[in-house]
Amino acid sequence: MSITILGIESSCDDTSASILKDGIIYSNIIANQTVHMDYGGVVPELASRAHQQNIIPVVHQAMQKAGVTADEIDAVAFTRGPGLLGSLMVGTSFAKGFAMAKNIPLIEVNHLQAHILAHFIDDLKNTYDHPEFPFLALLVSGGNSQIIIVKDHLEMEVIGETIDDAAGEAFDKCAKVMGLPYPGGPIIDRNAKQGNPHAFEFSRPKIQGLDYSFSGLKTSFLYFIRDKVKENPNFVQENMNDLCASLQYTIVDILMNKVKRAARETGIKQVAIAGGVSANSGLQNALHEAADKFNWKVYVPQLGYSLDNAAMIAITGYFKYLKKEFVGQDTAPFARMTI
Ligand code: KG4
Repeated sequence: MSITILGIESSCDDTSASILKDGIIYSNIIANQTVHMDYGGVVPELASRAHQQNIIPVVHQAMQKAGVTADEIDAVAFTRGPGLLGSLMVGTSFAKGFAMAKNIPLIEVNHLQAHILAHFIDDLKNTYDHPEFPFLALLVSGGNSQIIIVKDHLEMEVIGETIDDAAGEAFDKCAKVMGLPYPGGPIIDRNAKQGNPHAFEFSRPKIQGLDYSFSGLKTSFLYFIRDKVKENPNFVQENMNDLCASLQYTIVDILMNKVKRAARETGIKQVAIAGGVSANSGLQNALHEAADKFNWKVYVPQLGYSLDNAAMIAITGYFKYLKKEFVGQDTAPFARMTI
């Protein structure tokens, strides 16, 4: 029997819809919101409004591109959380209305799980190499930094996580200190390629076990820049590439140290990275270096599936559909959902 799933993602500032047929992604449409650029971060109310404007056109495009009509969809999967409540409500309400109108099952998806399950996506262009269970996942985004043992598609155990800021937040907040626009992560990555990663040294957290902390680094970076700018108002502009390279080196080193420890302690030699920060070239290089050194097999998500997207919601919905994990029409979004 053929299964067609509509995936909906609206947790933050991207509105996305995807069509999956029998485990294969047929379309993945993402509408990015540009309204936040002038504000140094996502403005929740503007995000909700933009989702409201985008959701129907994005779903239409996803169905058109896949050559699927609304009558052919067997289930609708949506991001229930975590995320901004007002943003989540738009996708959730759309999914509930669609499921009710078509009398089809409704599947709630945890956005964090979906980032990890993006590693199981195949699309019309390619079949990719998928991890085998159990594997370690380093989930690094704007809101999360976690190390997870993935035992099965829907069975995950968090063994380490940030006690304060996420890695993406550290990138974005430090970028803001340097006067760079939001989101600063990709810009730091670009600048870092021209800079010296050892030009400056920043403080590293001393946290027990497998947990992370990034707020100390953010504060020390802020004070460092403040003091240097007092001496030389052009300090940031004159040293931009070296600052970006040194900061990125520090964040990646903090992330990788705990992943290496997790691999040592669990004996697991397959490591996948997921979430927006997994696009970082420094992190990808460090992961490949560790793979050579420790004989790991590593997995980096395809670019189109690493940032927020509905294909990862659709593939998670597919695994839940196979287990008949449906929810009722009384479901509601949950901003602080965890794995
Ligand atoms: O997963 P994501 O798209 O959204 C959520 O947080 O759910 O991740 C966004 C985060 C932002 O903090 C952004 O700066 C960061 O991912 N990011 C990067 C890169 N691309 C995106 N950080 C560093 N280097 C990148 N190339």
